[in-house]
Amino acid sequence: MEHQLEDKWNRPLRDLRISVTDRCNFRCRYCMPAEIFGPDYEFLPKDHILTYEELTRLTRIFVSLGVKKIRVTGGEPLLRKDLPSFIHLLNRIEGVEDIAMTTNGVLLPKYAAELRAAGLKRVTVSLDSLNDQQFRLMNGGRSGVQAVLDGIEAAALAGLHVKINMVVQKGVNDSDILPMADYFREKKQILRFIEFMDVGNTNGWKWDQVVPKQQILSLIQEKVPLEPIDAHYAGEVASRYRYKGSDEEIGIISSVSDPFCGACSRARISAEGKLYTCLFASKGHDLRALLRSDQTDSEIETFIESVWKARTDRYSEERMLHSQSSPKIEMSHIGG
Ligand code: GTP
Ligand code: 5AD
Ligand code: SF4
Ligand code: SF4
Repeated sequence: MEHQLEDKWNRPLRDLRISVTDRCNFRCRYCMPAEIFGPDYEFLPKDHILTYEELTRLTRIFVSLGVKKIRVTGGEPLLRKDLPSFIHLLNRIEGVEDIAMTTNGVLLPKYAAELRAAGLKRVTVSLDSLNDQQFRLMNGGRSGVQAVLDGIEAAALAGLHVKINMVVQKGVNDSDILPMADYFREKKQILRFIEFMDVGNTNGWKWDQVVPKQQILSLIQEKVPLEPIDAHYAGEVASRYRYKGSDEEIGIISSVSDPFCGACSRARISAEGKLYTCLFASKGHDLRALLRSDQTDSEIETFIESVWKARTDRYSEERMLHSQSSPKIEMSHIGG
């Protein structure tokens, strides 16, 4: 029978975002600024990170509580050794309807075919500019544009559905909105514009660096008319738009100007096995301790159930009420 677990605002648990590593080979300023995530930064030691077996066991439990979609994230998930073997384990779990991954793309030429063979269906590749100099400025000088485009192409060739994520920061890459839109419209790939968010405590977020959804839409509409289209699923993060008279679409993720907490059905597990019920949470619930004690699956299930039942998070809708200095989990720990 379908599980009817719901939180305090009647939101079901449907999506699980699993971070497999807190490391990344990029240093995007809005996520892992190099001054903070420098050579002395202490990443998680190996024995603190959940093994694939532990994550698979947890996923099974989450699926029994209603989860249908899994997204693998990082840091950069492809830095974790033998990721395809984990995808394969996830793919064998009955009840999992969709497995996707969010990546910076540069390791896709190496892994795309293996990932597809292991059961991955979709990848979302982050790319913030088509201008090499600008892109390097944003990622801490770690990669040029071509390496990411090669990754996108490798993924598409391997049969993966590809979407592109562009974080938009006013005064940084807002002039890249139109070139990016044109390029991916031509390529018939879905580009999603993400409003710069106040995740974590290190990216120096300010309201005036956000380009709101309506502005992004107006900018594109001045050139080509758009029409809204229905969400793919309840609680979809991006609002979707189609270029009128075509099948090409874009998405806008407007967590700041038009939040979508009302239908948020996402749980997140950090690489060290903490359960977060919101992207902006300050505290997680330690699942690793439970996994590494003698708790049974059913005891762990009961624990997760109680956490979800008590959930009241709706940070983006309450942003004005929160102090920007209150501690929050870093993006690179829960993968967005
Ligand atoms: P689809 O399954 O393709 O709809 O994926 P997705 O859009 O949920 O995943 P992706 O990892 O591509 O996330 C896109 C952007 O939306 C990232 O910047 C995420 O941090 C952000 N995002 C995803 N889920 C949430 C959420 O629950 N709250 C907020 N505020 N942002 C989110
Ligand atoms: N605001 C908005 N999006 C962000 N991402 C990382 N940090 C931020 C931020 N501060 C994006 C990444 C990736 C996705 C998971 O989240 O670019 O595409
Ligand atoms: Fe790495 Fe993605 Fe964060 Fe950039 S946004 S530093 S690619 S995890
Ligand atoms: Fe969900 Fe928190 Fe994002 Fe709102 S801010 S959509 S509750 S993760």
